[in-house]
Amino acid sequence: MSKLLNSIIEKAIMLHKTIVLAEGEEPRIIRAARDITDKKIANIILLGDESVMKSVCPDVCMSGITIINPKTSDKTSAYAEYLFEARKAKGMTREDADKLILNTLFFGAVATKLGDADGMVAGAVNSTGNVLRPALQIIKTRKGVNTVSSCFVMCMEDNAFYDSDVMVFGDCAVNPNPNADQLADIAISTAQSAEVLCGVEPRVAMLSFSTKGSAKHENVDKVVTAYNKVRELCPDLLVDGELQVDAALVPSVGQLKAPGSKIAGSANVLIFPDLQSGNIGYKLVQRLAGAEAIGPICQGFDKPVNDLSRGCTAEDVLAVVAITALQAK
Ligand code: ACO
Repeated sequence: MSKLLNSIIEKAIMLHKTIVLAEGEEPRIIRAARDITDKKIANIILLGDESVMKSVCPDVCMSGITIINPKTSDKTSAYAEYLFEARKAKGMTREDADKLILNTLFFGAVATKLGDADGMVAGAVNSTGNVLRPALQIIKTRKGVNTVSSCFVMCMEDNAFYDSDVMVFGDCAVNPNPNADQLADIAISTAQSAEVLCGVEPRVAMLSFSTKGSAKHENVDKVVTAYNKVRELCPDLLVDGELQVDAALVPSVGQLKAPGSKIAGSANVLIFPDLQSGNIGYKLVQRLAGAEAIGPICQGFDKPVNDLSRGCTAEDVLAVVAITALQAK
């Protein structure tokens, strides 16, 4: 485990947050819940049927873990009413809401929205879309942000490639083709994630295949427009664009291509222009530079929600719960 992840877990322990695990009948989730509870990383709410939990993990003691079954909970009716009110303009009927609230992903999203939990984690069984859609519809974005996005924290401890041992990349998992406004949101949220999760002052590079007008294309225009919007919204943020990735990372190239830039050559937050470049970019650094890629970490929600990989282990779940608790601070 990286030093950063250890420090995130230590910080989470101080916060005493409550995290709802929507896939409470899944053995990896149950084992993680036990470990998280024993280590006091968060208070855990497991959603599902307790008898199923006990039958899939008979050896796991459930003491100290809150178990809620949406089918029998006394909260279900109030949550269904909330869901109906939140979605009726989109055509949801009260009958639809009564059925949908039995889905633990919707139940968990409403519990989080209403403050009965500080954050939600799921995705060990469900696809990214199925985890994010209830959260997008119910929890929605926090004030001042219109786009939910994601980042990866890239840990490169003792690496020979770069001065910074941690970098944050966005968006690598959610928005396939962000427009300029969405790209600005991604940059601002990723900078905040760098501060909250890594404790670093963000130095944000908005990446392109052009540096400061070296190429003309509508894709470059999008990055320039987004960069100007970030500067307008966050005048104190250290940000520059559009920059090629070598200008962002290599001081001599940065000086040559973007003279006078405060970011060029020393960026620690990289904003990719679209999901294809972001997803490819983080995997290249993970595979070729041997970085530990922590994520995807969702950002921009009003209350934190994170999506697990379906191949996750109980240890991965523990790490994502700690991250979610820290985001809930
Ligand atoms: N930010 C804020 N709101 C959003 C966003 C967003 N990024 N995306 C959708 N919404 C809103 C919509 O406006 C809508 O709101 P409304 O119903 O109140 O009007 C609601 O969320 C639901 O929108 P849908 O259109 O039903 O959702 P969609 O089908 O667009 O799904 C999703 C959203 C799941 C995030 C989709 O964009 C997606 O699948 N992204 C790619 C995920 C992926 O496959 N990633 C790669 C793998 S991950 C990895 O490799 C690490």
